[in-house]
Amino acid sequence: MNRRVLAALGSAVLALSMAACSGDGAGSGGNDSDQPGDLTIGVSMPTQTSERWIADGNSVKEKLEAKGYQVDLQYAGDDIPTQSQQVDQMITRGADVLIIAAIDGTALSGQLQAAADADIPVIAYDRLIRDSPNVDFYVSFDNYKVGVAQATALLVGLGVQTKDGAKGEAKGPFNIELFAGSLDDNNAHFFFDGAMDTLKPFIDDGTLKVTSGQTSIEQVAILRWQQEAAQKRMEDLLTSSYNSGTKVDGVLSPYDGLSRGIITALQNAGYKGADFPVVTGQDAEIASVKLIDDGVQSSTIFKDTRLLAEQAVIAAEAFLTDKAPQANDTETYNNGVKVVPSYLLPVQTVYKDDIKPVLIDSGYFTAEEVAAGQAG
Ligand code: GAL
Repeated sequence: MNRRVLAALGSAVLALSMAACSGDGAGSGGNDSDQPGDLTIGVSMPTQTSERWIADGNSVKEKLEAKGYQVDLQYAGDDIPTQSQQVDQMITRGADVLIIAAIDGTALSGQLQAAADADIPVIAYDRLIRDSPNVDFYVSFDNYKVGVAQATALLVGLGVQTKDGAKGEAKGPFNIELFAGSLDDNNAHFFFDGAMDTLKPFIDDGTLKVTSGQTSIEQVAILRWQQEAAQKRMEDLLTSSYNSGTKVDGVLSPYDGLSRGIITALQNAGYKGADFPVVTGQDAEIASVKLIDDGVQSSTIFKDTRLLAEQAVIAAEAFLTDKAPQANDTETYNNGVKVVPSYLLPVQTVYKDDIKPVLIDSGYFTAEEVAAGQAG
């Protein structure tokens, strides 16, 4: 039985012995008398500038409301103090469980301590919250495998490897550039590690050449995953490393928003048609799915936010009924203080041919949305 369940049981016993049954304070979730309608789940999401987080927020809210729970959903505009404040408010308004996708994975220790003090279980949503003992569960995807899948998609796009993992016809050498996500996001490191472990043998044997020489995560990271910053870095790379007729053949991008910035920089520099570099991505954002359909972006990694939301809801319900949510990984995600029990979902690489079977046939997007590059 984990610490939080014990704490929750402890507080239930205390509440009974005091016969103090008036009102539901913060963290009162789990009392047998509570109906879903009496329970509030605080859902803190990082930003609405990215379509994926809107989809995540909506999915979590809809699924919780369908079960009768109250939902306090907030977006923080990618601003760390705003997210801290919103989480503080959720706690003072009496949330019974918190589901948090952190902007900066290290910035919420104070809020999480307050949550722990009020016996409110905390579920880290897709992004691990670091440096705090008060993270009770983590729902995400296999983030190392995301990085492996992105690098593999780059190799496949270049023809160095085939989709079934066999050696491809193409020999290179190919000029590539690398991008990583925000250094304060734990996932960025997992993605980059998975990608570099996969690419390194090809860099070492000369099949791939990182023309700029920028290969450390610190050199290639993009703060807050910003599209404009990725565009600017790609423009700078084109000016500094591709000014003597050398062409870019491929770009490792860990997220569709960055990919769109990179693509804009490449298009502005005159890249087009069959010579357009292979650009990877992640999240199957609708604007990027259209770019893949149009043959501009090469691939994305699909993480089904419906399934992630479902796991978050399952974990929240477990806490609300004083059970420990079921983990399928209890080793990988050490947040600097402890290993956080996790439920990790699988991911899927999407090339142009996969849009219909994977994204449209599963109802994630309609064919019209893909054609328009816009959801809804
Ligand atoms: C990461 C997440 C990615 C992507 C990125 C930018 O934490 O795992 O899927 O969404 O943030 O939002």
